[in-house]
Amino acid sequence: MKEMLFPEVDTPALLLNEERLRGNIAVLQAQADQAGLALRPHAKAHKCAQVARLQLAAGAVGLCCAKLGEAEVLAQAGVPDLLVTTPVVGALKIARLMRVARQAAVKVVVDDERNIHDLAQAAQAAGIVLAVLIEVDVGQRRCGVPPGPRAAELACLVRAAPSLTLAGMQGYQGGLQCVADYTERRASVLAAMAALKQSVDAVRQTGMDVPVITGGGTGSFPIDIELASLTELQPGSYVTMDRAYAAIDWTGKHAGMPLQKPLSILASVISRPARDRAILDVGWKSASSDGAAPACLGHPGLIFEFAGDEHGQVRAANGGDLDLACGDRLELVPGHCDTTVNLFDSYVVHAQGRAYSTWSIEARGMSS
Ligand SMILES: Cc1ncc(COP(=O)(O)O)c(C=O)c1O
Repeated sequence: MKEMLFPEVDTPALLLNEERLRGNIAVLQAQADQAGLALRPHAKAHKCAQVARLQLAAGAVGLCCAKLGEAEVLAQAGVPDLLVTTPVVGALKIARLMRVARQAAVKVVVDDERNIHDLAQAAQAAGIVLAVLIEVDVGQRRCGVPPGPRAAELACLVRAAPSLTLAGMQGYQGGLQCVADYTERRASVLAAMAALKQSVDAVRQTGMDVPVITGGGTGSFPIDIELASLTELQPGSYVTMDRAYAAIDWTGKHAGMPLQKPLSILASVISRPARDRAILDVGWKSASSDGAAPACLGHPGLIFEFAGDEHGQVRAANGGDLDLACGDRLELVPGHCDTTVNLFDSYVVHAQGRAYSTWSIEARGMSS
């Protein structure tokens, strides 16, 4: 008789293996410590105060947030030091930022003159000095000033505002993180860091200090460590590990990453309409579909396909009969973790096949 996976847990559920999670946290922290670089993990990956606490306890200097809503939740949960890595624009958001600043040391990136002016006014009215970092577009073509003198112009505006202080600069290139070939990825990191340096040099030429140079992700991590162009590293996915990272040659030595996948979705078979098809209770509402489709853990011969909002279908790759009955369970490894985490209220935390806790995903859905 087949052993039932996690009989104490109802499905669909987002499982988190605590040992693997702690292992991933320890591996990157040790490497950053050894290189003398600060680690500021990105909370956009896990969205969870308890995971943030583990990262801080391991030695992280603080957390990054992609959205102000994430920063609000983590500040409320007691995370003392936060960097919002996306510009905070508009009166409504800036008012919220001022409230977060009462709870935590919160810094924010800027790339726009008017936004700097608005932040300065709000900080002055709130009676605080807000730390900002100038964001440089180092190749992603998302936010950020172009490399070169524009960063110095904005830095001068920051210097002229008594309610602002320049904490540093940010340059993140997301497009290169999952480039599988090491040499190609390293060349892209070198180009991104050279672009960032142009801007850092331009700011320094005005006589201003740039204490923090922050950026980097999971794929660039070993190269960021080697180059030490950044003073602070902000990887996020290393805690949960997207499947795309399994394919990359992380260090150029053709060895896999020393990081494990702690995340899976527990699914149940709810119907067996045909000998070669099983229907699961996991669809687009429980697994993100923007990356690769989930993989069936421990069953490389099975293929998962989305079959609607609440349904998924499993087939054998060879078209054969399935040895699955109604009520059987499967663990699915998500293709893209960040967007899957955002679909659940909590992690079901487990080790050695036993679930023993739930951790709230407080910042899930905090998209504003
Ligand atoms: C600004 C910024 N920094 C860091 C990260 C983390 O990168 P990764 O998830 O590859 O570790 C991201 C991810 O999107 C990001 O947008």
